Amino acid sequence: MKVAVTGATGFVGSRLVEQLHIEGHDVVVLTRNVNQAQQRFPSQVFTRVTVVAYTPMAAGEWQGAISGCDGVVNLAGEPIAEHRWTPEHKQLLLDSRILTTQHLVEAINQANPKPSVLVNASAIGFYGTSETASFDETSPAGGIF
Ligand SMILES: NC(=O)c1ccc[n+]([C@@H]2O[C@H](COP(=O)([O-])OP(=O)(O)OC[C@H]3O[C@@H](n4cnc5c(N)ncnc54)[C@H](OP(=O)(O)O)[C@@H]3O)[C@@H](O)[C@H]2O)c1
Repeated sequence: MKVAVTGATGFVGSRLVEQLHIEGHDVVVLTRNVNQAQQRFPSQVFTRVTVVAYTPMAAGEWQGAISGCDGVVNLAGEPIAEHRWTPEHKQLLLDSRILTTQHLVEAINQANPKPSVLVNASAIGFYGTSETASFDETSPAGGIF
C-alpha cells in the first residue's frame, strides 16, 4: 500500500511511519519542514519514504501528492500543551486541525486515483471528560474547548 501521513514527524506519526516502512508500505510524508523530516527519516534507511513539503493551512500543489495513495493518515496539529491558551492560540489549535483536514479532504476529492480511507486524529478534548463514560466518534461535543 501507499499511505500519505501528515504530522509524521510527531510523537504518533514517527512510530507510524516506522511501522508502515517495516511492513513494506510506501509512505508519503507531508511536512512543513522538509529538512527536519529528512533527518527523522533518512533516505538511506527509509528507502520507501518520500518527503514532500506542504502548507497544511493553505491549498497548493502539494495536494497532488495524495493522488495514487491508498490511504491518508492525518496527525497534524499545533501541540496543545506548549503555550498558554490565549484566544489567538486557541484559534491556531483549531485552524491547524480543521483547515488541514479540509485541505486533505479537498485533495482526496481531486485525487485520481483516490485513496479509499482517511484516518483522522485530533484532540480528544472535543468530547469533554468523564471518569466513567466512554466516547467515540458518535459522541456529542463536550462543553469544554
Ligand atoms: N499523543 C497523544 O497522546 C494524543 C492523544 C490524543 C490526541 N492526539 C492528537 O493526535 C494528533 C497527533 O498527536 P502527536 O502527539 O503525534 O502530536 P505531535 O507530536 O505534537 O506532532 C504533531 C505534528 O503536527 C505537525 N504540526 C505541529 N504544529 C502544527 C501546526 N501549527 N500546523 C500544522 N501542523 C502542525 C508537526 O508536523 P510537521 O512539522 O512535520 O508538519 C508535528 O510533528 C494531534 O492532533 C493530537 O492532538 C494525540
